[in-house]
Amino acid sequence: MTDRKATLTFDDKTLELPIHSPTAGPDVIDIRKLYAQGDVFTHDPGFTSTSACESTITFIDGDKGELLHRGYPIDQLASKSHYLEVCYLLLYGELPTAAEMEKFENTITRHTMLHEQMTYFYRGFRRDAHPMAIIVGVMGAMSAFYHDSTDISDPRQREIATHRLIAKMPTIVAWAFKYSIGQPFVYPRNDLDYAANFLNMCFSVPAEDYEVSPVLARAMDRIFTLHADHEQNASTSTVRLASSSGANPFACIAAGAACLWGPAHGGANQACLEMLREIGTVDKIPEYIARAKDKDDPFRLMGFGHRVYKNFDPRAKVMKESADEVLDLLGIHDNPTLQVAKELERQALEDPYFAEKKLFPNVDFYSGIILEAMGFPTSMFTPIFALSRTVGWISQWKEQLSDPAHKIGRPRQLYTGHPFRDYVEVENRG
Ligand code: CMC
Repeated sequence: MTDRKATLTFDDKTLELPIHSPTAGPDVIDIRKLYAQGDVFTHDPGFTSTSACESTITFIDGDKGELLHRGYPIDQLASKSHYLEVCYLLLYGELPTAAEMEKFENTITRHTMLHEQMTYFYRGFRRDAHPMAIIVGVMGAMSAFYHDSTDISDPRQREIATHRLIAKMPTIVAWAFKYSIGQPFVYPRNDLDYAANFLNMCFSVPAEDYEVSPVLARAMDRIFTLHADHEQNASTSTVRLASSSGANPFACIAAGAACLWGPAHGGANQACLEMLREIGTVDKIPEYIARAKDKDDPFRLMGFGHRVYKNFDPRAKVMKESADEVLDLLGIHDNPTLQVAKELERQALEDPYFAEKKLFPNVDFYSGIILEAMGFPTSMFTPIFALSRTVGWISQWKEQLSDPAHKIGRPRQLYTGHPFRDYVEVENRG
């Protein structure tokens, strides 16, 4: 914080607004007193110029293509760390010691089972329900099963809810998958690590042995890590807004998952792979690029563009390398979807439209190719994003609740409807 001030002059008023300097990123003009002192609002649909909270968790420099969790760059975390360690870092602010890591891993492992009665909840859904519909429902329903961790005023209950959400998400997501394909639920195994346990719950069947490939488990873990948190994006802001009213943690995280589902956000990975399949062959690419540039056509290149990154998405870089590794491991050569993706990326990046608008492949561009190669249907891509992002949501929720000054989120509006008018009796309406 500094004592610098911004001066705002309008009509006959002059207001002095404090300027805060962050540890990284642009300065912030504090407009909290604007309405009280100047009787005006600011107007910023889509929050393109608005800082909605103070946070110490994640930092993005969109021009440099930099993503830091508690200061550590995502490429280092993706190559040197692992998902549960990143979870610890996001939740508690520092990398754990070996003893802290062991304790945390042990706690998460021992919370992975779901209340047995939740199986009946799953059975209430149609088999052809989108797994995200099931997941949003089951996450919200957790508040009906775990009453001893819904009191947000109790730090111990907040901690238990945090552990439960991280631990149970792989089970919730894997069971949504199993339910949709008509296979029996597979229970969590405590001898497997977080990612391997998830793969086992998704792909093993009682009829035969299934051994999780360590390389695929590592690739899965890296996908989780790359999606773990992303500052104040739409779903995280939804979690914070839901939490600002004092809602319980399971309700807040379910709200975040519902927001993530949309194709402009976490739903883009499914939409991107469907688009790549629809393009089908490299000769069709120019036609789709032309459509993406056409103002009268609503089509967009899915997996391209980002509100904050204006140079490159550092997660996409790691994801592209992972895609090559996984396809190599699985012996998938000449994968047509990957060929289309690489050529589409090349042609789009050479096109002045995408260069001028600073549109680059984002995290969702290559993740679907890896997940498809692992055997996941497209409908599971967004659920896997939700699983990974749960720790980000819960870390931001925890941070918000630990700030004694937090307030209910209540934006205002630029009203352009009718001013006051008297009610007209039906017989007098013309
Ligand atoms: N294809 C074609 N044109 C695009 C695209 C695209 N993917 N993205 C943005 N544009 C154009 C857009 O038409 C607009 O042009 P103009 O200025 O002439 O009106 C300009 O670029 C700016 O777009 P915007 O919609 O105002 O930008 P935004 O910051 O509001 O939206 C976005 C960001 C990610 C929603 C958008 O780029 C998009 O819809 N991308 C495709 C969906 C996608 O891949 N989403 C995943 C985001 S990363 C993972 C996550 O956060 O979940």
